[in-house]
Amino acid sequence: MKIFVALSFLFANSMAFAAGGVGYPLEDITPNYKDKASLQRGLATFSHYCMGCHSIGYQRYERTASDLGIEIDVMLETVIPSDKKIGDLGTIAMPAAGAAEWFGAPPPDLSLVTRKRSPEWVYTYMKTFYSDPARPLGVNNKVFPKVGMPHVLEPLQGIQLAICDAGINTDLASGESITEDQCDTLEIVEGSGTLSDTEYSRLIYDLVNFLEYIGEPSKAQSHKMGLYVLLFLMLFFVFAYLLKREYWKDVH
Ligand code: HEC
Repeated sequence: MKIFVALSFLFANSMAFAAGGVGYPLEDITPNYKDKASLQRGLATFSHYCMGCHSIGYQRYERTASDLGIEIDVMLETVIPSDKKIGDLGTIAMPAAGAAEWFGAPPPDLSLVTRKRSPEWVYTYMKTFYSDPARPLGVNNKVFPKVGMPHVLEPLQGIQLAICDAGINTDLASGESITEDQCDTLEIVEGSGTLSDTEYSRLIYDLVNFLEYIGEPSKAQSHKMGLYVLLFLMLFFVFAYLLKREYWKDVH
């Protein structure tokens, strides 16, 4: 019984965690670390739009290139900053102290971001920047309110507006119904971005897929290794069984 209670607590906890607590609903995605084309596109987007501010400093470029099946020359030419070598870590030149002053918070290293948040969180985050003139950078975010990051992909996604309508909420203190503006409907200003909604979602999927890979680059190898271990155990069982038969033959 105790175990059951403990397990149900664990389960409830992980459910609450997966849902990201209360707040804006996260969109569901299924990352696929085997889709190398998607990972390559994600890397391209990352190096073009994110690496100016964010490092992925736990991994060397060489490892990324070999895991994703990218030729060293192509990697050097398209991804790696000219002052870096193929064996370097994916750190960046921006000084943390300066960055904190410019943005209010330094851009964090993104190596483990999908593990710290979740792939769903990062996906939804990249899709829910909206125009908010009250913020210093002119944008706000649905899953990261008052975010200090500019919407760097706005030229692609377009300008997004939060449309408000009157929603009925329950006042927690008194239990009475109150009418409150809810501004959770997001709408792109038509023609303000170069990508369609589907294309933009695809771009972000690839980007998050890449970040998920960076968070656990050995996953593909681990899975392969696990398979070998199981095969070995199966084969070993056959020999162990034969050996056992041989030993016990004379006992009976
Ligand atoms: C101009 C600099 C800049 C660029 C370019 C940039 N970011 Fe950021 N980013 C920031 C800053 C600053 C923060 C911290 C915001 C805060 O804490 O308020 C941040 C925060 C984040 C976070 C939240 C991390 C967390 O767990 O708190 C994610 C995810 C993220 N950025 C992803 C990206 C991606 C993906 C790109 C490329 C498409 C990108 N960023 C490009 C400056 C930048």
